[in-house]
Amino acid sequence: MPMEKYIVIHGPNLNLLGTREPEIYGNVTLDQINKMLYQEAKKFDIELEIYQSNFEGEIIDTIHKNRECAGIVINPAAYTHYSIAILDAIKGVTAPVVEVHLSNIHQREEFREKSVTAKGCIGQISGFGAFSYILGLKAIMNHTRNIQY
Ligand code: DQA
Repeated sequence: MPMEKYIVIHGPNLNLLGTREPEIYGNVTLDQINKMLYQEAKKFDIELEIYQSNFEGEIIDTIHKNRECAGIVINPAAYTHYSIAILDAIKGVTAPVVEVHLSNIHQREEFREKSVTAKGCIGQISGFGAFSYILGLKAIMNHTRNIQY
């Protein structure tokens, strides 16, 4: 059986993690998060590809390119709150998608409470810092493998 391939997409400004508003996003860098994710992928014997982009179109192209993968974990960052184009891309592919956020978007400014992109996702994980990504990867794996717990 070929290895299941999963994708993680980090949206805009997440390349600055570690120094970007650490009181909100913590001190963990994107490289450290990616290392954690690769470790997790090894544990579960899955193939994992990780992307980061500050450009909406590039994020959409990445979703299209991986349209048939086993699952996508995405932190659309600020695009979460207004990108109908990313929502349409998520809805347009067969790969199931889980949305993650480092911060609890429901606890912050009012404009962050609304997620346009989550409408196309299996679910959303928000507020657990870097661990949100690990939870997201586990959630999408369980969904794909039809594990109910
Ligand atoms: C974020 C929350 C967004 O509102 C914000 O624009 C981000 C990061 C998070 O992971 O908490 O860039 O997606």
